[in-house]
Amino acid sequence: MSFGVYIHWPYCLSKCPYCDFFSRAVSPDATLIEAYQAEIQRLPKRTVTSVFFGGGTPSLMQEKDISALLEAVAVRCGLSPDAEISLEANPDAIDMPKMKALHALGVNRLSLGVQSLSDDSLQFLGRHHDAKTARLRIEQMARIFDNCSIDLMYALPFHTLSAWEKELAEALTYDLPHYSLYQLTIEEGTPFARQGVKPADENVARDLFLQTLEQMEKAGKPWYEVSNFAQKGFECRHNLGYWLGKDYAGIGPGAHGRYGCVATENPCSVPLWRQQGTQKTRLSKQERFEEKLLMGLRLRQGFSTRHLAPKAVQRAIDNGWVVRTKNKVVLTQEGLLMLNPLTVLLCP
Ligand SMILES: C[S@@+](CC[C@H](N)C(=O)[O-])C[C@H]1O[C@@H](n2cnc3c(N)ncnc32)[C@H](O)[C@@H]1O
Ligand code: SF4
Repeated sequence: MSFGVYIHWPYCLSKCPYCDFFSRAVSPDATLIEAYQAEIQRLPKRTVTSVFFGGGTPSLMQEKDISALLEAVAVRCGLSPDAEISLEANPDAIDMPKMKALHALGVNRLSLGVQSLSDDSLQFLGRHHDAKTARLRIEQMARIFDNCSIDLMYALPFHTLSAWEKELAEALTYDLPHYSLYQLTIEEGTPFARQGVKPADENVARDLFLQTLEQMEKAGKPWYEVSNFAQKGFECRHNLGYWLGKDYAGIGPGAHGRYGCVATENPCSVPLWRQQGTQKTRLSKQERFEEKLLMGLRLRQGFSTRHLAPKAVQRAIDNGWVVRTKNKVVLTQEGLLMLNPLTVLLCP
């Protein structure tokens, strides 16, 4: 049985104007790591199959702190021998010695937030690294980590099909085993939203998405989740756990967890998290099922028809959004573009 532990580190060197993840551009206080350790002490004693350091910018964490948290998880829960241990890194918040050190202390998957290989796009995104640094870090990462990934953002307001195709082709020359490719979304409350930055035109975004699917398929890194592409065997096991509705724990301010129908939520505030700890809520079976549907439909492997209304499944098939294979519904290309109405249709 898989059991993942997500550890949220909500600190960044600066705040990007599009980002609505819980993170702050301040330095953590030195005693903070003890609060993380204390929270790990309250985890169930269940062998952990994946750990994911996310953020924020967890590559800013000190090596001794990452090591202490991994040790705490291993002592409290046990770490399976083949556990996937991922960490998100920013190109301007990691270097080669740090990559080597992380690898030596057990991190076996690095996910680098490159975002773009064009200086103009990086500037537009308010990033502090340039394309040259991004290229250098990708090369360094690939030398140290067999299992690694980059994040790129596309469908920027000025992206054309040819500009994005060229950028993605360059990213593919590194032949990494995994790529996360996100369409820029303008999130409420962010500086981009306040400045009135408009997302790419809907039709352009659709064409960019279809082109991305095709380009990645041809490169031998097909999609396995709408924004995630991997060589066979390099799908992110931790994230697959979320999408497949498995149990996971959330450690740190702003982190969420799921244990069956019990949802855990930590406050998006460091002082409140330290004072109040975790809030637990029992979800109804229906609520948890809807969550699983929302997540599971995003996967290429399909979603079990067991709890779906046969009439709704038939309508989704008639609309050309899914096909049925044995006891699953599997997205078609049209379904991939219609995820929201499809989810509404299939929600019992
Ligand atoms: C939680 S962020 C943390 C990663 C890391 N701090 C960084 O910025 O590289 C994970 C990824 O989400 C993506 N992301 C964040 N905000 C986004 C947005 N508004 N639209 C699309 N993708 C976004 C970025 O690609 C980012 O690398
Ligand atoms: S995108 Fe990454 S670096 Fe930028 S503010 Fe969000 S978490 Fe921090």
